[in-house]
Amino acid sequence: MKKTVPLPRIGMRVIKTAVAVMVSYLLFVPFGLLYREELGGILGQMGPLYACIACIICTQSTLGQTFQQGISRLIGVIVGGALGTATLLLGPALDNPWVKIPVLGAVCVAGVWLCLLIKRPTACGMACILPCVILITGVTGVTRYYYAAARMIETVVGLLIALGVNAALPDYRPETERGESDMNVELHNTTRKLCVIGDPVGHSKSPLIQNTMLKALGLDYVYLCQPVPRGKCKEWLDCAKFAGYAGFNATMPHKEELVPLMDQLDQDARLIGAVNTVCIREGKAYGYNTDGEGFLRALADEGIHPAGKTVAVLGAGGASKAVCLKLAQAGAQVIVCNRTLDKAQAICAHDPAHLRPVGFGPEELAQAAGACDLLVNGTSLGMEGSGGQFADFSFLDSLKEGAPVVDLIYAPAQTELLRQAKLRGHQTVNGLGLLVNQAVLSLEYFTDTSIDAAEMKKVLAEVL
Ligand code: ATR
Repeated sequence: MKKTVPLPRIGMRVIKTAVAVMVSYLLFVPFGLLYREELGGILGQMGPLYACIACIICTQSTLGQTFQQGISRLIGVIVGGALGTATLLLGPALDNPWVKIPVLGAVCVAGVWLCLLIKRPTACGMACILPCVILITGVTGVTRYYYAAARMIETVVGLLIALGVNAALPDYRPETERGESDMNVELHNTTRKLCVIGDPVGHSKSPLIQNTMLKALGLDYVYLCQPVPRGKCKEWLDCAKFAGYAGFNATMPHKEELVPLMDQLDQDARLIGAVNTVCIREGKAYGYNTDGEGFLRALADEGIHPAGKTVAVLGAGGASKAVCLKLAQAGAQVIVCNRTLDKAQAICAHDPAHLRPVGFGPEELAQAAGACDLLVNGTSLGMEGSGGQFADFSFLDSLKEGAPVVDLIYAPAQTELLRQAKLRGHQTVNGLGLLVNQAVLSLEYFTDTSIDAAEMKKVLAEVL
């Protein structure tokens, strides 16, 4: 089978480095590219090499880091140059290798010690390299002074070029897939850990959503993606406690498995029988479910208030269950339509006064649509990658005028169901609001901070 090797991506760092190196070469062309001793003095020792090294190192980072890297490099060059040239005081004795080698060792140790003393560990390399170059190359006599001075000038020139290029060119990274955006997570020793667990979990948008919010809010947490095999929640929970996690979210298939493992469950997790948010406080696990409340908040954001209304919910999977039970709790009458009737019946058994199960045939769908004030799709039909689609949308013709249609799916942003409902003049709402609201609620639990969901929606709209 033919295997394709992906080409390395050319990002702005590479472009900045190339521009900086080219500029430094162009600047040093008048000096003959290679050192030309016939020019005499410092000019005869001047070349682009040290400028290029400074450019390459410094354009690898942000402008602020460039400055710090540059200062360290300059300090290294000054320390190394000064110590290297100071060895000249030993005069012809340096020609004896029994003198030269220990002197070189002592000078390198002194350079490293000096750099560490002023807390510039990245300067150590240069502080050692320069004395080595000065003592080992064939440069002799007073030319060594010129040689050291030339290296310092080249480094300063390289740093100035790097700073200029880094400031002038944008901090752009090539866009690959939308949503794979750079999360730009900054880590410190104090950074607290959060994650999402699942099996599989690689596709989860939670790290992107949570890290974006954490960054916008300036909270010192990092949110990771942690695959946990089915049936291994107990082991994971012990690991998370031991590793000092502040908490985690759970997706398929762990939401139910976590319930008996919690030290304490909140009302919604108990009601829905599933945990999607776990906070670890002083070694104890607190389980929450933010799916149902996130859904109600997303409806409220759109001006939809289900209390006292009839709602048709299509589907009886985990997401639909949370939605149905919270709708019933909020005082709605819910018709649960599902292909597998048993699953709809199991949900309705929790609150028969508010929940009624029906099948998923065309007539049942049309009847439910005709009876409801709000229609919610909780099935995977129309979801990106699921392949499934409603057989027909004629049931939408039965909807009451003004009945909104909500889809829990957020990718694609407009499912065929929503498109068809919109064509028929209904208000439509996709799953993005639910996604954001449940994530905001989770983050509130994790960090014990109150968060402005409307503001977060704006921030997240740029990355989702
Ligand atoms: P989630 O936990 O995200 O809700 P799920 O548990 O896999 O996901 O539920 C998917 C829902 O979509 C179920 O209600 C499923 O119906 P079944 O319970 O009969 O499986 C529904 N669904 C998936 N494909 C469907 C299809 N082709 N026609 C009708 N319903 C479908």
